[in-house]
Amino acid sequence: MDERTAAFELIRMVNEYRVSQAISVAATLGIADHIKDGKRSATELASLTDTHPRALYRLMRALAAAGLFHEGEDELFSLTPLGGALRSDAEYSAAPWAAFVGRPYYRQAWSELLYSIQTGKNAFHHTHGKGVWEYRAEHPEESAIFDRAMAANSRGAAAAILAAYDFSPFPIIMDVGGGQGSLLAEVLAATPGSRGILFDQPHVVVRAASVMAAKGVADRCEIVGGDFFAALPARADAVLLKWILHDWDDETNVAILKNCRRAIHDGGKLLVFEAVLAPPNQGANAKFSDLNMLVAPDGQERTAEEFKSLLAKGGFEVTEIVEAGPRISIVEGRPA
Ligand SMILES: C[S@@+](CC[C@H](N)C(=O)[O-])C[C@H]1O[C@@H](n2cnc3c(N)ncnc32)[C@H](O)[C@@H]1O
Repeated sequence: MDERTAAFELIRMVNEYRVSQAISVAATLGIADHIKDGKRSATELASLTDTHPRALYRLMRALAAAGLFHEGEDELFSLTPLGGALRSDAEYSAAPWAAFVGRPYYRQAWSELLYSIQTGKNAFHHTHGKGVWEYRAEHPEESAIFDRAMAANSRGAAAAILAAYDFSPFPIIMDVGGGQGSLLAEVLAATPGSRGILFDQPHVVVRAASVMAAKGVADRCEIVGGDFFAALPARADAVLLKWILHDWDDETNVAILKNCRRAIHDGGKLLVFEAVLAPPNQGANAKFSDLNMLVAPDGQERTAEEFKSLLAKGGFEVTEIVEAGPRISIVEGRPA
């Protein structure tokens, strides 16, 4: 690549934040839902979304140029297959995540990445004076937006996880920090002989009953609100930790893992679902997620060796690491 091409390419990459924020706004406004059944003009869409017609037209034409929508000669907009993933009824809707990523409080933390790189400290705390979980507990709307994003992403991940791992040996499965229960609902639906316990913060699990009911597993799942740094509510044959360990540093994780250890029946398993960092020059997604962990929740992504060492400190021996897709691996452990 010559220098001029490299400069153009870098500038294109640097400007991608605009695409990201524009998609987030379209997701927040529910644009894809408004055009899924037929074309509409920006003026119609502006009236449906209570926005400024000309400004919305400019958003729509930019996103059409980026491939999410198609703008006809008549200035009517329709959905492309890419933009279709922003429909709220899409099986693996990207809209909840897109809406979350554009939230100002979260972007503000990312704008302090330089602070994190200079100090090694958490940008979110620097920006807001508290950690992400405390902030969301105090801002119910932000918590709801974040929880919806996690639930939607978990539905997508669940398909890959179920294809890669058999949960049927476990009579009782407890998802610790399981959010609104997306993963556990899918696991229980695929494992009719098992019962589940969903455990997360009280203000998060309040929205879980409808998720369980929608999957027809409500009668096999107990929903418990609490704090995973205190005791876990029950004992189980499998304890799931999905996208939990990457939120915290090693020392904090050891406290969570020790609680999980006490909650696992003899012969039971700990199942950690996380991205595993790839060797140098590969796996950009997990490596940028690692930066996100530095900026937002104050955690980190880990290599396979780092997971083995961390689980050992928490009382587990890693028995297997199964790649369930490009973005998620299953780290299976048994009590050591
Ligand atoms: C990154 S989200 C992952 C949610 C879910 N496991 C998933 O994969 O979609 C981390 C979860 O940890 C929960 N959490 C944070 N602190 C907690 C605590 N002290 N006790 C219980 N849950 C907590 C959050 O409410 C959130 O649902």
